[in-house]
Amino acid sequence: MLEIAIIWDWLAFAFRWLHVITAIAWIGSSFYFIALDLGLHKRPNLPEGVSGEEWQVHGGGFYHIQKYQVAPPNLPTQLTWFKWESYSTWLSGFALMAIMYWSGAELYLIDRSKMDLELWQAILISGGSLAIGWVIYDLLCKSRLGQRPITLMLLLFILLVVMSWGYDQIFTGRAALLHIGAFTATIMTANVFLIIIPNQKIVVADLKQGKKPNPEFGRIGKLRSTHNNYLTLPVIFLMLSNHYPLAFASEYNWIICSLIFLMGVTIRHYFNTIHARKGHPNWTWAVTAMIFIAIMWLSALKPPIGDDFELSNTRTADDPTSHVELVGFDEVDEIIQIRCAACHNRQPVWDQILWAPKTVLLETEQQIIDNADRIFLHSVMTTSMPPSNATFMTVEERQTLMQWYAQIPQSQKLPFVRRQSVQ
Ligand code: HEC
Repeated sequence: MLEIAIIWDWLAFAFRWLHVITAIAWIGSSFYFIALDLGLHKRPNLPEGVSGEEWQVHGGGFYHIQKYQVAPPNLPTQLTWFKWESYSTWLSGFALMAIMYWSGAELYLIDRSKMDLELWQAILISGGSLAIGWVIYDLLCKSRLGQRPITLMLLLFILLVVMSWGYDQIFTGRAALLHIGAFTATIMTANVFLIIIPNQKIVVADLKQGKKPNPEFGRIGKLRSTHNNYLTLPVIFLMLSNHYPLAFASEYNWIICSLIFLMGVTIRHYFNTIHARKGHPNWTWAVTAMIFIAIMWLSALKPPIGDDFELSNTRTADDPTSHVELVGFDEVDEIIQIRCAACHNRQPVWDQILWAPKTVLLETEQQIIDNADRIFLHSVMTTSMPPSNATFMTVEERQTLMQWYAQIPQSQKLPFVRRQSVQ
């Protein structure tokens, strides 16, 4: 029988599928045009109004592309627009956000230790913040700062840092990163929907009436599309981050978030430069690597077990001379049964959880040991599990798990991904 839960699960998959496909189409066409634009050649005797041209070879033929800046003298009979790639990415992403984070708000969105929100409040903040973000960004671009692209970029970066911090004050870390991604993606799509395409339509209308279009529209479109260019890679990172607890559920997740936006700039700068045939700024890779290492370091800087937690002295705080007591499996088992088993069980008892999430079963000793690395990442180094700390796991319990984890011989701690696939 088709239970609602089954339909819902497939719906989530369908929208994810659609979202990934549309995003590939959008980003693909956007990267293509950025590279094309930067690589255009000028030569003498180009037709009137042509600012550059390029020859390309692909799929068994040659393409001869010429760019008219701002517009050709006459409107061509056939025009291909690029807009639905962007719109459908946003629409499918919005649907996916509602399916995952609004309908699953209790686990994924609301973190009662941060803010005790009602469901409707959480949804209002989630959706409303996306719209408000666009309004602020758009006002910044339309202000006099629009003439000073670098200052504008800096302000935009500060806006993103503030929003990263802000979302983390309200939502679970997981939802915080997802939302800053959605916030950025909303700006990008709204740039296409509310600025670039409408301006383009004005130009087309002018051409139809035989008027000369205002070059200002070209400049505005270029500014917005440059922002989109630098924002693309961070958005993808943020959308994927919910699979990596160190990224979203560690203490400094909002700083990690901010650094990702810098990596978006350093990586794009490299490609923009080579596409413009201005050399190979390899230093950008060194900077990118340094930022990435800083992110890794930050993610482990302040784990929930305490940054000064030492394996050797917690259990024996009363008696500093004694050796560390080994943590027995019974103790670990008890913690797991109380804090995790309600969901990670063949027959979960948690409302809305119908089967063990991600097929992670934590019932037998073997299953718990097999998942040791994941338990370490999700519940010791980060607060990813239990979600929103739904079962009120304590810091001491996380410390006990840490101790147990440290006791497991390295040989048994193969990378968990490999072991999972063997199971
Ligand atoms: C309230 C229900 C609930 C509780 C309690 C819970 N989990 Fe989870 N767990 C989930 C859900 C839901 C997911 C799937 C998350 C997702 O979709 O990314 C999950 C996923 C996981 C994963 C797999 C993550 C991945 O990305 O592969 C691990 C490991 C895990 N939980 C460990 C734990 C541990 C350890 C505890 C106890 C300390 C725990 N969970 C408590 C609901 C729960």
